[in-house]
Amino acid sequence: MADYDFELQPALKEEHTPEQMLRIIFDYTAKIGNESSLQNVLVLMANMGREMIVSDRCTVWLIDHKTNELFTTVAHGVNEIRVPMGSGFVGHSIEIGKPLLIEDAYADPRHNPTNDKLTGYKTKSIITVPFVGNDGSMIGAYQAINKMTPEAVFTQRDLDYLALAASYAGKSLESVMLHEEIVATQREIIFTMGEIGESRSKETGNHVKRVAEYSYILALGLGLGQEEAEKIKMASPMHDIGKVAIPDAVLKKPGKLTDEEYDIMKTHTTIAYNLLKGSSRDLLRSAASIAHEHHEKWDGTGYPQKLKGEEIHLYGRITAVADVFDALGSDRVYKKAWELDRIVNLFHEERGRHFDPQLIDVFMEQLPKIIEVRDRYKDDMPE
Ligand code: C2E
Ligand code: SIN
Ligand code: SIN
Ligand code: SIN
Ligand code: FE
Ligand code: FE
Repeated sequence: MADYDFELQPALKEEHTPEQMLRIIFDYTAKIGNESSLQNVLVLMANMGREMIVSDRCTVWLIDHKTNELFTTVAHGVNEIRVPMGSGFVGHSIEIGKPLLIEDAYADPRHNPTNDKLTGYKTKSIITVPFVGNDGSMIGAYQAINKMTPEAVFTQRDLDYLALAASYAGKSLESVMLHEEIVATQREIIFTMGEIGESRSKETGNHVKRVAEYSYILALGLGLGQEEAEKIKMASPMHDIGKVAIPDAVLKKPGKLTDEEYDIMKTHTTIAYNLLKGSSRDLLRSAASIAHEHHEKWDGTGYPQKLKGEEIHLYGRITAVADVFDALGSDRVYKKAWELDRIVNLFHEERGRHFDPQLIDVFMEQLPKIIEVRDRYKDDMPE
């Protein structure tokens, strides 16, 4: 009488023929080469490894040198799993830079049974294969658990195949990691530049954070795609970067500006535009356009170009709503924060005057979400 549970003990499988193996390698490397998301590459690599060596589970772990951790993403999920650098078989394997082949995990003191206890899964055999990047530095490891053939243990052949999978997919993996690093760096630079612009005028980093989030909500509410909304969210924090060039006497004046001072103030739009317009990067070009046009008004009475209606780039129209909402709701050197009702009334009045009417409709629809963001990123200033 078999006493196994099908959930825990899936049906046994055969090893692949050489033709099947070639087909697996060919299919997966083609797919992996076309992927630009790190998460998808990790999942494809894991699936490739699992199929090649007929294991029940397979994971690709990467090293995060900044935090001294290993991390991976779960198939189709958004969550990331992180463990300290040296932990478990996989951590050990990376540390010594050699593959490991364990026939019985529970007979080995390096095994950490916590996961099995939590999930009810029974780990038996494990292999791990570390892999190195183009420059020879260690970047991560394959970990496969439980061989699904009748023999039930991994062999040297499996190690060789996993190493092969790692070397085929490694180049794509590295280029995707590099791309993500570049995007993250761009985002950080842009955000920091925005903060610098705002800190000159004593506004907090939370101002740029809120404007970014409001712009994102408005973009999605308007029906723009996820990717474009993300782009607007990244570029909008730079709208006031030109304020770095405005003299303190104007920028920090506690009272109302004279006409002359206001003219100086208005140049923050063109200063930023001239600073950013030369970039060929899409993200910086969007930031240039937002900085240039966030004070234009739908009825043509804004500055610096007196653009009208849809002559104003959509990103500028979106950021205008986000920026004014936040400016009115915050204390400034020259004014106290307004109550929400008063702001909402002004927005109704300015529908089709200062603001794109369609965007005001979206703003009203999205108001609960916008207020949630406002409360989440409150300024820590005395009332
Ligand atoms: P900011 O403080 O970030 O304000 C952005 C925009 O929010 C303003 O653009 C305006 O459209 C709106 N806003 C802010 N406060 C009020 C308000 O009390 N009433 C109304 N109706 N709208 C308001 P704007 O006017 O083009 O100003 C651009 C920037 O010039 C402001 O950015 C601020 O840095 C500066 N600024 C404007 N007015 C004054 C002022 O009287 N004194 C000082 N020191 N700075 C001012
Ligand atoms: C490990 O010890 O490397 C983890 C194996 C497991 O999932 O239990
Ligand atoms: C991009 O940043 O998406 C490439 C387009 C460009 O460089 O203008
Ligand atoms: C641009 O996108 O480079 C033009 C935007 C502008 O003139 O503000
Ligand atoms: Fe501005
Ligand atoms: Fe602003």
